[in-house]
Amino acid sequence: MNLRQEFPLLAQTNLTYLDSAATTQKPQTVLDEMDRAYRLCNANVHRSPHSLGREMTRRYEAARAEVAAFFGAGEGYQVVFTSGATDALNLAARSFLEGFGRPGQQVIVLLSEHHSNFVPWQQLCRRQGMALRVIPAGEDGRPDLEQLGKALTKKTCIVAAAHVTNTFGVENPVEEIIRLAHAQGVPVLLDGAQAAAHQPVDVQALGCDFYCVSSHKLYGPTGIGALIARKQWLESMPPVAFGGEMVERVAVEETRFAPLPARFEAGTPNFIGAVGFARALGWLEEQGMEQVARREQALTRLLWEEVRRIPGVVLPLERCPDAGILSFLLPPFSPYDVALLLDQQGVALREGLHCAHPLMQAMGLPQGTIRASLGIYNSEEDIERLCAALRRIASIL
Ligand code: ALA
Repeated sequence: MNLRQEFPLLAQTNLTYLDSAATTQKPQTVLDEMDRAYRLCNANVHRSPHSLGREMTRRYEAARAEVAAFFGAGEGYQVVFTSGATDALNLAARSFLEGFGRPGQQVIVLLSEHHSNFVPWQQLCRRQGMALRVIPAGEDGRPDLEQLGKALTKKTCIVAAAHVTNTFGVENPVEEIIRLAHAQGVPVLLDGAQAAAHQPVDVQALGCDFYCVSSHKLYGPTGIGALIARKQWLESMPPVAFGGEMVERVAVEETRFAPLPARFEAGTPNFIGAVGFARALGWLEEQGMEQVARREQALTRLLWEEVRRIPGVVLPLERCPDAGILSFLLPPFSPYDVALLLDQQGVALREGLHCAHPLMQAMGLPQGTIRASLGIYNSEEDIERLCAALRRIASIL
């Protein structure tokens, strides 16, 4: 079955879409599910007693259960809906540090983090008199675990790391990071934005304390994501956004907050988004995540092998990426020019610093890279089209 046909935006065109790390296209089933929800049962959740309100509430909570099941979040975990991975990361950082951070303590992050798993920690550490410890990457793009081991002390409050990096498709050794951190009693947050759509993820098997995802990178709608967290932490973390439905009782003098997860979901949630998100996860389950991972791994290898053979292409990270994200250069063209020239040939991808300025600076890449990233709809043909277009650009010289 050609999955491309299930994606309306791709089915009718020849577009080679290689920008799934930025956002994925949406299958018809997700669009239909959201359309049906708007047309048949649109009503606010957890408020109104009428049938529509009850039905939408049921669907919203079923979506939460689907997210929990998809990510193996058992009894010890809780799913909090957020507006995306960035929101989940900000919520976790703000609430965790407010609850557990003390002046003089430190937060450990990796140099290769996306800004959304870097800047919140940097800014909050500054505000709370804490230190930010940044672990560099080696030649293979993976973090220096020896440095991490030495950095983990009694003063460490939390370790935050990407599961897969958005720049070079490096799968960080998250099991090892969790083992090292937990040995010191330090919790670990993983940014799963780039991993979740491309491999099976089981938060309980991983043993992480927090896992953050965005629906729009998982073939679902924008504006919805999740913070999946161990209840043992969430129960002692203060809410950071206040408003309707996150409270149990409000008096002039005092407010008693609602139980989990409502206390972290102030205001009207994106319930239609949640329904679309759940359908996307259900659809991915139908494809089989093991199979998705195997197929994308084979395509990643082909992408790497074919692009590196093009005369003039430079790979800042020479080895084959672990996940379907390949960053490269085609000097003397700037990444921006290459992206525009590729666009003219029907190939869509991202270029630039990829919201990872500290990494790009450390690697001496002031203009960043050209980044091709794979999704479930890509095929060998897309890779051929990318390579043919790159050869044409290289031949201009
Ligand atoms: N975080 C997304 C990317 O890397 C937007 O492109």
